Amino acid sequence: MDVLGIDIGGTGIKAAPVDVATGTLTRPRVKVPTPHPALPGAIADVVADLVRDLGWSGPAGITFPGVVIGGVTHTAANLDPGWIGMDARALFTKATGLGVSVLNDADAAGLAEMKWGAGAGMAGTVLMLTFGTGIGSALFTDGVLVPNTEFGHIEIRGRDAEKRASEHARELHDLSWGTWAGRVDEYLDRLEALIAPELIIIGGGISRKADKFVPLLTSLRARIAPAAMHNDAGLVGAAMAAV
Ligand code: BGC
Repeated sequence: MDVLGIDIGGTGIKAAPVDVATGTLTRPRVKVPTPHPALPGAIADVVADLVRDLGWSGPAGITFPGVVIGGVTHTAANLDPGWIGMDARALFTKATGLGVSVLNDADAAGLAEMKWGAGAGMAGTVLMLTFGTGIGSALFTDGVLVPNTEFGHIEIRGRDAEKRASEHARELHDLSWGTWAGRVDEYLDRLEALIAPELIIIGGGISRKADKFVPLLTSLRARIAPAAMHNDAGLVGAAMAAV
């Protein structure tokens, strides 16, 4: 069965149909820039355009970069604050005319990686982190997701961790791999002290460059693995959540 996955990020919005029996994209993904200001109506228009351009009429799963409970978005660190308290499921249903589900972007990526990627078959505590515009987190215990963890916002040296250690922060401040890996290392150390995962999966586009920084990380008890599905994990997890 094919389900349309849509991944809303602070920088771009991606879409592709996904075969939910295999976790693979059945058509190449399309990506458009996130409108700014990233208001609910503007993003809903972009999502509706993507659905129309793809000629899609089946179910769709949509990720959102914030806390999502029962289809309502409760935070929006990297989008317009107008999303706070918004019934996003109703908004996207109206805009697209499709049956949609909405979930947190990192949770979606984690679901995909636990089923088909770096966490497949893993019991115990697994933490998936996505490094992009922000830092997203998905926590699993014996394969079961604890939704809406927000570990990108723990405080490190007086600042939100994602402001220091996201992929965006690396680019914005033109950090060397060594400097950035040092920040990631400090962040992972803190998380390990708080939740003691056995495996940490590093996701987001940066997972394709794992060889540049994973060897620079030090002294972690947890095993570190780059996401197997890289930036497509969110799309696949979005589709999985819609069935
Ligand atoms: C948001 C998270 C999101 C992450 C990655 C953070 O700023 O609070 O909900 O998962 O960015 O997009």
